[in-house]
Amino acid sequence: MVSYKELGLVNTREMFAKAVKGGYAIPAFNFNTMEQMQAIVQAAVETKSPVIMQVSKGARNYANATILRYMAQGAVEYAKELGCANPQIVLHLDHGDTFELCKDCIDMGFSSVMIDGSSLPYEENIALAKKVVDYAHKYDVTVEAELGVLAGVEDEVSSAVSHYTKPEEVIDFSQRSGCDSLAISIGTSHGAYKFTPAQCTRDPKTGKLVPPPLAFNILHEIEKKLPGFPIVLHGSSSVPQEEVDTINKYGGKLPDAVGIPEEQLREAAKSAVCKINIDSDSRLAMTAAIRKYLAENPSHFDPRQYLKPARENMKKMYIHKIVNVLGSNNKL
Ligand code: 13P
Repeated sequence: MVSYKELGLVNTREMFAKAVKGGYAIPAFNFNTMEQMQAIVQAAVETKSPVIMQVSKGARNYANATILRYMAQGAVEYAKELGCANPQIVLHLDHGDTFELCKDCIDMGFSSVMIDGSSLPYEENIALAKKVVDYAHKYDVTVEAELGVLAGVEDEVSSAVSHYTKPEEVIDFSQRSGCDSLAISIGTSHGAYKFTPAQCTRDPKTGKLVPPPLAFNILHEIEKKLPGFPIVLHGSSSVPQEEVDTINKYGGKLPDAVGIPEEQLREAAKSAVCKINIDSDSRLAMTAAIRKYLAENPSHFDPRQYLKPARENMKKMYIHKIVNVLGSNNKL
């Protein structure tokens, strides 16, 4: 058993309380490569932002669970080396689907876990979340649960349709599960194809898809039922069209990729939404930079040559999100 406290990590309790009060959101960036980790830490240190580094089950399968845990420990030391005396870094399990997986992460030094029972019947979702909470709280690890179902595909998590969170259930669910934060479904969606063309309108000038708006009425109803309670938004990449265009220009094929407009995320961040999950935007930033670099430098083959601009492009995107969308800069 390794306590996250020994690794210099923090849980989400205090940072969420401050974020809800302060009207901003903490960035939750997924990572599974060294370059993503470096870019996240550099961006957080330069903007003086707390940050959640999250690992999905798929990331653990890809990179190896032990390596990722040591990378998070390395992230804390790296932040200090970059001049941040007291970094606030959370190591979070994204979409844990069993008690055993959550326990394994808690035992190996995670400071926060998500138990995603959102596809289960209501009572089973509560029972599973409560079991995780009872274990996690013994070690001061915070727990995110989910109510409502997001559409989209992300690693092992996928659903063809979304079901909005029912505001009338949130009080009972949060009280009985004991969760520390609640992920809700108000129209965000996982992946780079958040909406089908049929769900969108098309901008006549650019030909780009314009997605349907988030259900802010549901968010506001939930806020009224649970004043001050930390709310989480998954599936919040905005799928920057300049990255999609770069990918398509240099041999990629991502027709009609579309995300959540940043103005809507900015609005959500001002509310009880205090954690915003972003994964696909990092994948797009990395892929766009690599495709462009390799197309322009066909004779290069040293991964450091193309991973460097990829890392820089991800860092630029992380800083943009922190400063211009979530507002978590200067909140350390
Ligand atoms: P995106 O696919 O929109 O980046 O969502 C990531 C996410 O919600 C991770 O849990």
